[in-house]
Amino acid sequence: MGKLCFFLLSVVFLVSLLNGETVTAASRKKVATGVRTRDGSEEWGYVEVRPRAHMFWWLYRSPYRVEDSSKPWPIILWLQGGPGGSGVGMGNFEEIGPLDTYLKPRNSTWLQVADLLFVDNPVGTGYSFVEEGDADLFVKTDDEAASDLTTLLEKVFNRNESLQKSPLYIVAESYGGKFAVTLGLSALKAIEAGKLKLILGGVALGDTWISPEDFVLSWGPLLKDLSRLDNNGLQKANSLAEKIRQQIREGQYADATNSWSELEGVISANSNSVDFYNFLLDSGSDPLSLTTAAAELSQKNAMKSYSRYISSLRSALPGGGVGDLDSIMNGVIKTKLKIIPANFSWGEQSSNVFNQMVGDFMRPRINEVDELLAKGVNVTIYNGQLDLICSTKGTEAWVEKLKWEGLHSFLSMNRTPLLCGAEGQLTKGFTRSYKNLNFFWILGAGHFVPVDQPCIALKMVGQITQSPAADAAASAKKDQKSKHEMRKVW
Ligand SMILES: *[C@@H]1O[C@H](CO)[C@@H](O)[C@H](O)[C@H]1NC(C)=O
Ligand SMILES: *[C@@H]1O[C@H](CO)[C@@H](O)[C@H](O)[C@H]1NC(C)=O
Ligand SMILES: *[C@@H]1O[C@H](CO)[C@@H](O)[C@H](O)[C@H]1NC(C)=O
Ligand SMILES: *[C@@H]1O[C@H](CO)[C@@H](O)[C@H](O)[C@H]1NC(C)=O
Repeated sequence: MGKLCFFLLSVVFLVSLLNGETVTAASRKKVATGVRTRDGSEEWGYVEVRPRAHMFWWLYRSPYRVEDSSKPWPIILWLQGGPGGSGVGMGNFEEIGPLDTYLKPRNSTWLQVADLLFVDNPVGTGYSFVEEGDADLFVKTDDEAASDLTTLLEKVFNRNESLQKSPLYIVAESYGGKFAVTLGLSALKAIEAGKLKLILGGVALGDTWISPEDFVLSWGPLLKDLSRLDNNGLQKANSLAEKIRQQIREGQYADATNSWSELEGVISANSNSVDFYNFLLDSGSDPLSLTTAAAELSQKNAMKSYSRYISSLRSALPGGGVGDLDSIMNGVIKTKLKIIPANFSWGEQSSNVFNQMVGDFMRPRINEVDELLAKGVNVTIYNGQLDLICSTKGTEAWVEKLKWEGLHSFLSMNRTPLLCGAEGQLTKGFTRSYKNLNFFWILGAGHFVPVDQPCIALKMVGQITQSPAADAAASAKKDQKSKHEMRKVW
């Protein structure tokens, strides 16, 4: 059954490969700038955001689009974390895109409420690359990444009036939140200066690393309350977290990054390897993570456990390579996209991206959230209940540090419970809004909210984007027609 479905999908896929695409290339350059499917449902390309630094983007237009004169059709820009995690790969195929890693339709895709724009950000992530791996070309700060992303948005939006009519919602996960808030400010500046033609609809921060200090300080007490640490473990965790707070206060961000890595090691050792993305689970039984010195744990292993966590959620299906993100991104998807340089593989430069950002990794971005709030941007924060790395406890702690004038009223309001799906009687979360600050508490979800709670995540994002299709997506059983369209979209 699984094989048959895959075969049928492959036929659809091959047909779309063989006809109906136009490739445009800037004559001077070796890197093709764009491809568009004949029906216009998908478009992708590279933007040379700085000389020899190429950023890849992929836009899906929704087959569920609803014309509503009072509510424009939205576009979501999805920003993945890491830094170095590929939105084009993980966000798209593992979380919210039209197809999963088996290339089967995802019934909870966010295309039901919006168009989707995935970008491999910063350069060096996923399919994005710097020529010859030149170390000087990677970004070192969130602000540099925001500047490259703004250039990309200018290239994609300024040439297309129909795109400009859709408000852009920046939705970020994990480290992507620091890019989202710096991009939000940088994009507003470019819009005011007349350099960027788009409407910024809002910014949504999902389990985001906005204030590292508040997260590392939350880990010990949270795990102690959950019986996952004892008092000895708690004390070790707290004293290291305190050291990190001091390093951050003194602006020693690279040292703080090393201490963060060390703290993860201490917590793993004292909790028998709790999973940082869902504290109810153990992290995978990879012996490496138990034997490697803490200092060497760093991002490589963090990225490994990130994808291991996601793949542990997949059902085992026969597929021969399909189902594995790395295999499809360097196989069937790379072939489909046509313009990825032959000598470059997806993810090849990702670890450089992290290493170049160690000096900014631990820098807080609470002030940027305050600036967005002061400018009237609709800011939504959502958090999975079971996340450890970006725990709800830590998120609440940094929210309480906001200087925004509405904070006190926001904190004193009652929450509204959220229900969803077939088990409509069960509480799936809570929400609270005051003026332009909104918070969603998502129960039963770890770090990857759309993966763990697809129903409530879709409903929430329909609300965030004020999508004209929000009600339909929240209640509908998809009919045959939309299933068929879904396959075409891919
Ligand atoms: C999606 O499919 C899964 C099973 O494959 C089902 O449990 C779930 O209810 C479906 N969700 C929607 C929104 O249709
Ligand atoms: C691929 O090869 C070309 C020329 O052979 C070179 O200019 C380019 O930098 C290479 N790309 C990468 C990512 O190394
Ligand atoms: C702009 O987008 C519309 C669809 O939204 C498409 O039909 C049109 O061809 C695009 N124009 C350019 C120049 O890309
Ligand atoms: C702001 O976002 C919330 C969801 O987080 C949504 O309910 C509300 O309608 C949005 N308001 C505006 C003006 O976009």
